[in-house]
Amino acid sequence: MKAVAVVPGRPNSVHLAELPPPRVEEIPNGRGVKVRVLKVGVDATDREINDAQYGNAPPGYDFLVLGHESFGVVEEIGHGVKHVKPGDYVTCTVRRPGNSIYDMIGRSDITSEETYYERGINLLHGFLTEYYVDDAEFVVKMPVGLKHLHVLAEPMSCAAKAVQQAFEAQRRLHVWNPKIAFVTGAGQIGLLATLVLRLRGLEVFTLARAKSPCLKSEIATGMGAHYISTSETSIKQLADKVGKPDIIIEATGSSQMAFDAMEVLNLNGVEVWTSITGGQRRVEVPADRLNLTWVLGNKLLLGSVNANFRHFELGIADLALGEVTYPGVIERILTTPVRGVDNYKEMMRLLVEEKSALKVYVEVAEG
Ligand code: BGC
Ligand code: ZN
Repeated sequence: MKAVAVVPGRPNSVHLAELPPPRVEEIPNGRGVKVRVLKVGVDATDREINDAQYGNAPPGYDFLVLGHESFGVVEEIGHGVKHVKPGDYVTCTVRRPGNSIYDMIGRSDITSEETYYERGINLLHGFLTEYYVDDAEFVVKMPVGLKHLHVLAEPMSCAAKAVQQAFEAQRRLHVWNPKIAFVTGAGQIGLLATLVLRLRGLEVFTLARAKSPCLKSEIATGMGAHYISTSETSIKQLADKVGKPDIIIEATGSSQMAFDAMEVLNLNGVEVWTSITGGQRRVEVPADRLNLTWVLGNKLLLGSVNANFRHFELGIADLALGEVTYPGVIERILTTPVRGVDNYKEMMRLLVEEKSALKVYVEVAEG
């Protein structure tokens, strides 16, 4: 079967590879689930892997199959699988356990080992192929009514985790009633985090460079948030005008913004960093002032990556609630389909060049 792959370490090496179709028996104890892949989303991670900024092939291979945002239909299950059956729509978690205590308890998203195993990203083949097989433990059922949101389940799981971790960490304060949220960045994670925070009842300001009206501003305001173009209003000007945010979700992909945002966080607030910045950029920061205000304000900086099974379930529940609260808005993120794995070059071109594409995804098969 065909798969879209790269040679890790070699820039712009995206190509078609050939793999034998996987078998459900590969997973022990009847826990295998075989999934026919319908759609796979790609994001900045895939772009940076193709740029050779990171990513590693599985042992024994010189290529890595891409794709970590999957949507498919169950084709076959082992005798021990109970929670999905053939015909069910599913997505799949990305990270697989290492050996730390967190990996043992289903929390490989917070592994304490340096090496992490992620399908389509590091040391494990991804889903951008015709079929995959995985342990039932990692296969997440998607309600048929959310079929049209397909590949958003994975990025939504990361947004859901980021917000959930912030609320969990803020229990340190005993009482915390956040009112204002800033979300920096209006890519898929920024917009989905906007949705999660709106569904928690916060007043949300979503900041991005593009001037409104534009698709990003329409989606953010469609979710009941305010959209702020940073080319017109800086984050500091915004905070002066509307008040300091109790929570910031940083999702721009710019380390500069990650530090700029620290200057406006409210007392007792939390800022969550979600961007994977593969570069070597250095920025100057007002170190004394940040240090002082963060100490005096008991502020919290939290990194959040990946998501486990439970965050996928949380995210899917929020997609469902979001769909009934803001009907038809979420699917507007799904801007840019590419037909078939054979069109992998076009997929990468759109991912790199097409600035108006909020979400590029490959339609691998009908279904
Ligand atoms: C993926 C996460 C992953 C992270 C780091 C993101 O693009 O969505 O699942 O943990 O990259 O590799
Ligand atoms: Zn991703």
